[in-house]
Amino acid sequence: MTSASNSPSSNSSSSPMRKIIVLGATSGIAVEVQRQLARRGYDLLLVARSPERLAALQSDLLARGAAQVLTCPADLARIEKHGSIFEFVRRSFAGYDTVLLAYGSMHNQKDSESSVEILLDELNINFVSASALLTVFAADLEERRTGCIAAITSVAGDRGRRSNYVYGSAKGALSLFLQGLRSRLHPAGVKVITIKPGPVQTAMTDHVPNASRFADPELVARDIVHALERRSPDVLYTPKIWRFIMSAVEHIPETVFKRLSF
Ligand SMILES: NC(=O)c1ccc[n+]([C@@H]2O[C@H](COP(=O)([O-])OP(=O)(O)OC[C@H]3O[C@@H](n4cnc5c(N)ncnc54)[C@H](OP(=O)(O)O)[C@@H]3O)[C@@H](O)[C@H]2O)c1
Repeated sequence: MTSASNSPSSNSSSSPMRKIIVLGATSGIAVEVQRQLARRGYDLLLVARSPERLAALQSDLLARGAAQVLTCPADLARIEKHGSIFEFVRRSFAGYDTVLLAYGSMHNQKDSESSVEILLDELNINFVSASALLTVFAADLEERRTGCIAAITSVAGDRGRRSNYVYGSAKGALSLFLQGLRSRLHPAGVKVITIKPGPVQTAMTDHVPNASRFADPELVARDIVHALERRSPDVLYTPKIWRFIMSAVEHIPETVFKRLSF
């Protein structure tokens, strides 16, 4: 776990955000978000698996203007380690006000149809461990009556599809969890933002046909940063068109939908 800083924080916008924790900091989408936050001079605590990639990211973000960048290597799927991550946050990044959960995995659907182990791994990474970790931060922010929790789920969670329903069900469960959490934390003034990207060009999708037509992660990150700074909306579809696409998809009758091969 390491820390490095530039001169005192320069971000002076009207945003209530100053100190952001990113869970899954090496994700393609998260990297773009962090670059934009760094340019605005925020303090960042990055949590991800690879110490080497974290170190490289730390240097990059400091060079781009982040006020402070701390790193914490951790496998976030290991729920038994969540306590020590939170302990590190309490000791080294007290007063944080924003948590962005960005990690996730998308196995090949066929593999989780034939292996219960892979199925459980997919559900654990995308839903079980994510909701466990957010529960720890939610209790702290609720007690302090401040802050914002944002988590990246997916449009895949809006409807179960033949080709992607395991990943989709984990993301759908996370969206439902966030909806309930939002209501629970509302009286304490803590915001909860559900981020639902459509397909984005990152390592997660680089094997998918036509991936070059997917959204640019920089544009998706722009929507996310805007939402974090405004602490709104409750549910962000990015790019925006996906709100309308998913609304149409949700209205397809089940008798038709079950025959679609996508
Ligand atoms: N790309 C899309 O089309 C798309 C669309 C909708 C939603 N999303 C969601 O957006 C989020 C970011 O994904 P991305 O597109 O940026 O893909 P990505 O670049 O493949 O990022 C996924 C990240 O999750 C991390 N991760 C996986 N398991 C982990 C674990 N056990 N502990 C810690 N970190 C772990 C990976 O870390 P390592 O580098 O160590 O493997 C990687 O940094 C994910 O939740 C994804 O489901 C993506």
